[in-house]
Amino acid sequence: MPRTGTDQLNPSARFSLTIAVLLLVAGAVAAGLFAIPHRAEALRADNAAGDAVCLSCHQQKARFEQTAHRLTSTLPTRQSIAGSFSRGENVMRTSNPQLHFRMDSTATGFYQTAVLGRAPDTSSHSERIAFVTGSRKGQSYLYWGAGDQLYQLPVSYWKGVGWVNSPGYPDGTPNFGRPIPPRCLECHASWFEHVPDPTVINRYRPTGAVLGISCETCHGSGREHARRERSALRALLPRAMINPGRLPRVRQLDACALCHAGTAALRTLPFAYVPGQPLEQRSDLWTTPDTGEIDVHGNQVALLERSRCFRSSQMTCATCHDVHGEQRDVVALSGRCLTCHTMQSCGLFPSHGQELVGRCVDCHMPALTSTVLISNYLGRPVRVQVRTHWIKVYPQLQAP
Ligand code: HEC
Ligand code: HEC
Ligand code: HEC
Ligand code: HEC
Ligand code: HEC
Ligand code: HEC
Ligand code: HEC
Repeated sequence: MPRTGTDQLNPSARFSLTIAVLLLVAGAVAAGLFAIPHRAEALRADNAAGDAVCLSCHQQKARFEQTAHRLTSTLPTRQSIAGSFSRGENVMRTSNPQLHFRMDSTATGFYQTAVLGRAPDTSSHSERIAFVTGSRKGQSYLYWGAGDQLYQLPVSYWKGVGWVNSPGYPDGTPNFGRPIPPRCLECHASWFEHVPDPTVINRYRPTGAVLGISCETCHGSGREHARRERSALRALLPRAMINPGRLPRVRQLDACALCHAGTAALRTLPFAYVPGQPLEQRSDLWTTPDTGEIDVHGNQVALLERSRCFRSSQMTCATCHDVHGEQRDVVALSGRCLTCHTMQSCGLFPSHGQELVGRCVDCHMPALTSTVLISNYLGRPVRVQVRTHWIKVYPQLQAP
């Protein structure tokens, strides 16, 4: 008589079978649950893993912590503030003889003070630096007004010049009133909690800001990915991480265009964009007509798009840049040209030969003067040089 069914098994075999079935069911449930595809989320204070967690596994990306992206907004310290607080160096005169600004470092923080009038009949107004923006060519400083409103301080710092009037502040006026809109922070920080208010645009919850641009700004919130990589069930779980390098070309460009395609306002809430999404749903800032003037400040995407290199190839920003490290070695960047061109393809090769090596960028992507990024100091304009991304022949740069 054939034996069928579990009641013919001895008790220990029956027990093993039950366990096996249970494990199978549990596995299936787990796999079913976790097979839900990962839904990428924009970074917030409450879903951030933080760079330290990412770097605990991705040590080869540690150079990122010293980049302009990472340092683009910081808390004020003696190290993070580029300007000097030493006596004699901490004063900015203006074209108004009745007005100067003084920068002080005290036990309670760093202050900017407008001093109006002549001693002894002076009046003054002070505000404390809450955040520092910028780390390379210049810095601006932000302060909290009315408790939870962010404003730009009147004095900025430019390398090679020193303390200057902040862009947008006319020289010689004791003004502290330039509000900081969310778009400014979206480009210069990972997260600020904007408080919508019909009367003012610059209200934020004062705690919980995530300063600097962090890994998760470009890769999406990474807690789930970190959990997966530590889990024994790793193979069953989705990778839960955006690698912009795997996106189609236009989406790769979008991921940078969020902040490198001009300063126009976005249509949607700030800090909501996740790389991989079409940026045109959020903004029309990237569809600049071919004709209009584009300033070299902050619009690398539109400038690059005008280049024949870009139009005749699959070039993206990553063709030249590795954003995980500082990007200022112009000789190394000139080497990137040779992934598509040869030295011989330059019209100057017959006359210049080897001299061209390492210098392609000097002539074909020159640093040009911005017409929008202007500060002023004692009534004189201070203009910033920015590297143009319109790669072409600039005939005035024929001579070496
Ligand atoms: C516990 C270790 C661990 C942590 C923490 C971790 N990762 Fe990963 N990460 C990995 C491993 C392992 C892989 C390779 C996964 C694979 O190939 O399936 C990976 C892959 C990636 C990739 C490539 C994904 C792809 O599809 O090509 C990116 C991007 C990435 N991680 C970014 C991050 C970021 C950002 C953080 C912080 C939020 C982070 N990782 C935290 C271990 C980790
Ligand atoms: C969230 C906004 C944001 C995103 C997204 C972003 N950037 Fe930036 N990037 C900035 C800001 C702001 C600066 C200037 C920081 C400073 O100097 O304070 C900057 C600076 C740079 C620099 C100059 C670095 C140096 O060492 O001088 C390069 C190159 C750059 N970005 C490339 C990229 C590329 C490529 C992408 C897309 C993969 C990208 N950025 C995405 C905001 C962003
Ligand atoms: C400004 C945007 C940006 C920031 C910030 C950023 N990444 Fe990336 N990351 C990219 C892009 C674009 C790629 C794909 C192209 C490439 O590999 O350079 C990438 C690729 C990667 C990869 C997969 C390819 C590889 O090289 O292994 C890992 C892992 C990674 N990033 C980890 C990190 C970590 C960790 C941080 C923070 C310490 C970070 N990223 C910060 C834009 C960014
Ligand atoms: C659309 C994104 C965007 C907005 C909005 C924006 N910036 Fe920038 N900012 C950038 C980029 C990108 C750079 C650097 C590259 C360049 O100059 O083209 C930069 C450069 C700077 C620098 C010089 C940094 C350095 O290290 O040299 C300062 C300071 C600065 N911005 C402050 C501000 C402030 C303050 C606001 C708001 C009132 C603001 N930015 C609005 C993207 C933006
Ligand atoms: C991804 C490939 C690629 C890279 C990288 C690249 N180019 Fe090009 N470039 C091209 C292509 C393709 C053309 C168009 C050639 C044609 O149409 O005959 C071109 C055209 C040019 C032209 C002619 C432009 C004009 O308006 O007539 C110059 C100059 C040039 N490249 C210089 C450079 C320099 C300098 C670099 C590095 C900063 C560089 N290219 C990087 C692919 C590239
Ligand atoms: C053909 C190579 C090439 C490509 C492609 C490229 N860049 Fe650059 N980028 C450079 C060079 C060269 C510099 C100059 C570095 C320096 O002078 O320190 C630079 C500098 C920058 C700077 C700093 C500008 C300044 O003067 O402060 C930013 C921001 C930047 N690139 C963003 C981008 C973005 C965003 C993209 C994609 C839309 C991109 N780059 C594509 C070569 C390239
Ligand atoms: C001293 C300035 C200078 C340097 C350095 C330089 N170029 Fe040129 N390049 C020029 C000039 C000027 C022309 C136009 C020459 C002409 O029309 O006869 C040109 C033309 C070109 C062209 C366009 C040829 C055509 O007519 O379509 C390419 C491509 C090019 N250069 C690539 C490079 C590369 C790659 C390097 C680096 C190895 C480089 N150049 C270095 C000044 C320079």
